[in-house]
Amino acid sequence: MSLSFDLVPGTPVTAPEEIARVLSQDPGFGIHFSDHMALATWTDGIGWHDDQVTAYAPFQVDPGDAVLHYAQEIFEGLKAYRHADGSIWLFRPEKNAQRFIRSAERMDLPRLEAEDFITAVTAVTRADAAWVPGAEEQSLYIRPFMFAAESFLGVRSAKTVTFATIAGPAGAYFKTGLSPVDIWVTTTWSRAGDGGTGAAKCGGNYASSLIAGKEAYAHGCGQVLFTDAATHSWLEELGGMNVFIVTQAGELVTPPTSGTILDGVTRDSILQLAPRFGLKPVERPIALAELLEGIASGAIPEAFACGTAAVITPISAFRYAADGGDQDATLANPFGQATAALRRQLVDIQWGRAADEFGWTTRVA
Ligand code: COI
Repeated sequence: MSLSFDLVPGTPVTAPEEIARVLSQDPGFGIHFSDHMALATWTDGIGWHDDQVTAYAPFQVDPGDAVLHYAQEIFEGLKAYRHADGSIWLFRPEKNAQRFIRSAERMDLPRLEAEDFITAVTAVTRADAAWVPGAEEQSLYIRPFMFAAESFLGVRSAKTVTFATIAGPAGAYFKTGLSPVDIWVTTTWSRAGDGGTGAAKCGGNYASSLIAGKEAYAHGCGQVLFTDAATHSWLEELGGMNVFIVTQAGELVTPPTSGTILDGVTRDSILQLAPRFGLKPVERPIALAELLEGIASGAIPEAFACGTAAVITPISAFRYAADGGDQDATLANPFGQATAALRRQLVDIQWGRAADEFGWTTRVA
């Protein structure tokens, strides 16, 4: 039976003037949270129950809760967009729902049907419609997640699990806004290995990326690029987003999602949009040597990061350690024609300014 995530009556809401005040400034990313959250509990032998939308509030966490010890947790990220007529739309929520199922499988968490995932996301968006910004490049960032909620220290899958969805207004992910970012290529740290959790959207992947992110900041970069764990010679993905390169020959290339790379929704959308701009979408391994030589020769004039949070963020340079110091491979044309055209097309579809020929957007309010 499907879940309904009904709104608990009488939940308090923030005064419209206060919401207007928050939305009038750049909300940043992941700082503000809206008034409601969706909740459901899964119990082994019973299934999902107690689904509801209630007031955003702290959880009671038992110090023995398994998630605090063994990190059995997954999450998603998607956005709601306010169109010029005031209506509110989700972008490809079924892709996030399907990935949530795959992540749950990998982390041995229970399956939440795609329909239930979308109901929860829609219910929170409707309850917090007042929090969906109307300003350029701003949206409601929605964060569904699921975690082991059983107090038990034996290493096994939890028999009680919480699903929740929270949300909040968001602007640009990077402090620098839409400006191109410098990327640090780490060969010290790895994000994922064969048979690991690289393709799952689980908190542990992000926890293990933090030290590499710190390494990137120490080298003056805004993000880290991981290479393959075995040889450190093939591009994988960035700390929290996928990577693309544009070649002089008109190819738009990204590494294949071979089990170590997250199957990004933005990544998939870009691959589908590419032919509209005369670009040939190609999923194939990219050698670090090819990247550095291609940038030096001009064969790779553009590169960008992409994700729900990052949208499409141009890359200015890849910085890497060589010859006892830092070297820069600087892109000839960071916010070049291909990057700009793909970004414009994507955000125009998301904000309802361009025809949605793929049927990617769903009206929720
Ligand atoms: C997203 O793009 O939604 C992400 O999940 C990336 C990051 C903020 C963790």
